[in-house]
Amino acid sequence: MDAADVEADLVNILYTEDEIRAKLGELAATIEADYAGKDILIVGILRGAVMVMADLARAFHRHVEMDWMAVSSYGSGTKSSGVVRILKDLDTDITNRHVIVVDEIIDTGLTLSWLVSNLASRNPASLEICTLLRKPEALSMDVDVKYVGWDIPNEFVVGYGLDYQERYRNLRDIGTLAPHVYS
Ligand code: PRP
Repeated sequence: MDAADVEADLVNILYTEDEIRAKLGELAATIEADYAGKDILIVGILRGAVMVMADLARAFHRHVEMDWMAVSSYGSGTKSSGVVRILKDLDTDITNRHVIVVDEIIDTGLTLSWLVSNLASRNPASLEICTLLRKPEALSMDVDVKYVGWDIPNEFVVGYGLDYQERYRNLRDIGTLAPHVYS
């Protein structure tokens, strides 16, 4: 779906498909340099990270393994509470593996903060986070996010995996949702 298909629902286009692809290329190049000579396992957090995982993985000029987790965070409405339940665990034993958790957005940081301590207890060789977008509140989280595409303002963004009531995930670009859609 193109931004033109839902033009009336968007205040603006924050990042186009081309800008996203370029950014993921930069992130992949940085990660490749950091992990030279090491096997990498990238772990996507369902469901929003599907697009980022697909494009990030293909931007690498080397092998990367992919695995997935699904978690549910209990919160009031759109805010997560930090109480997380694993709906689908990894199929991979990450002991002594170099693991990079990939998500499309960090909002409060509560989900990843919980996830990182859970995964760290499984004794990986290393554990880092890569996110395409990060909101301001996440800057105060106690978890270090090594790879960030863009820091964005605290706005309701959709597209490229990001949803509002399960819609807009298949929008090619990332845009700011117009208030009339959710209010
Ligand atoms: C989103 C996103 C992160 C989490 C970030 O997932 O993918 O996992 O919220 O929020 P936080 O930093 O405030 O914890 P969501 O729960 O919306 O599920 P989805 O990926 O299926 O859309």
